[in-house]
Amino acid sequence: MKAFLIDRYGKHPGRMGETPAPAVGPHDVLIEVHASSVNVLDSKISTGEFKLILPYAFPLILGNDLAGVVTEVGTQVTRFKPGDEVYARPPEARIGTFAELIAVNENAIALKPANIDMAQAASLPLVALTAWQVLVDTAQLKKGQKVLIHAGSGGVGTVAIQLAKHLGAFVATTTSTANVEWVKALGADVVIDYKQQNFDSVLHDYDVVLNSLGADVLEKSLKVLKPGGQLISISGPPTAQFAQEQGLSWPLQQVMRLLSFAIRRKARKRDVNYAFVFMRANGAQLQQISSLVAAGIIKPVIDRTFPFESTAEALNYVDQGRAKGKVVVLIK
Ligand SMILES: NC(=O)c1ccc[n+]([C@@H]2O[C@H](COP(=O)([O-])OP(=O)(O)OC[C@H]3O[C@@H](n4cnc5c(N)ncnc54)[C@H](OP(=O)(O)O)[C@@H]3O)[C@@H](O)[C@H]2O)c1
Repeated sequence: MKAFLIDRYGKHPGRMGETPAPAVGPHDVLIEVHASSVNVLDSKISTGEFKLILPYAFPLILGNDLAGVVTEVGTQVTRFKPGDEVYARPPEARIGTFAELIAVNENAIALKPANIDMAQAASLPLVALTAWQVLVDTAQLKKGQKVLIHAGSGGVGTVAIQLAKHLGAFVATTTSTANVEWVKALGADVVIDYKQQNFDSVLHDYDVVLNSLGADVLEKSLKVLKPGGQLISISGPPTAQFAQEQGLSWPLQQVMRLLSFAIRRKARKRDVNYAFVFMRANGAQLQQISSLVAAGIIKPVIDRTFPFESTAEALNYVDQGRAKGKVVVLIK
């Protein structure tokens, strides 16, 4: 089958190639991939930035999101059958959605909402699960609470704004001048144009901040939170708790404790809780997200689509950091 893969870590090491079709385990579903989407994670994996956390073998097929059709099911699979239209973020140990076929454990898969097409479906799993795991699982965001979602025009931000509004929160977000009106239309109550204003001098008494930006923004975000508030970062620094949950060695747990020491200390001083969230594949949660998509509550936001042969170009485009919503690769 055709796939986009890397043979080593590096800046732009990807290539189109032929690989054997995947083996289908007893709990696996074999999926003909129709569309995939690009995540910043793809670049981080290919440069080797995540090799201590996610140790992969080469050649490695990249890609962490898919929408497609089930062609075969393993002997123990109970919830899917050939012909089902599905979407998924495969478990991190067995990625590879920039490919014509992928075998995925049935626990990671959900039925594709019928009201969206394959490209739209492929744009959702990783970012929607991230938003869910931050806002629902970690923050337990409640009606009437105030949340700041950084980078509201990005892949995670566009879904997180819609989910937070659905949960009844008051939503502030940050973006650049050109995206202000567009992000308001997604539902944000307050939009801070970071080219014109400092968010930390405008926003106060927030319950939750979802940070997906750098250390500077993370630290300034503390000022926005009220005592008892929650600073939740998906872009680091990681914590010892995360390292433990990830099953990393004791020395790595200590490294991550050190990496997050300063921000945890500053957070504690303000009576704010700091958490690092690293999203996980989860078919059951994705099925709940499907209901919101089917009801028109969460709408996919696609910036551009690229043909399969141009996967490297799609990755480069996302690397520039200016995508509005998601970038999709059309496989079939
Ligand atoms: N831990 C996890 O589980 C997890 C899951 C998903 C993503 N992530 C991480 O979260 C980060 C964001 O992911 P993503 O997919 O949302 O990225 P993305 O789609 O590539 O984000 C691009 C967007 O970021 C905005 N942006 C850039 N700098 C900004 C700033 N200073 N203030 C406000 N907005 C800014 C850009 O808007 P402008 O053009 O207007 O600047 C653009 O629309 C990445 O580091 C990714 O690796 C982590």
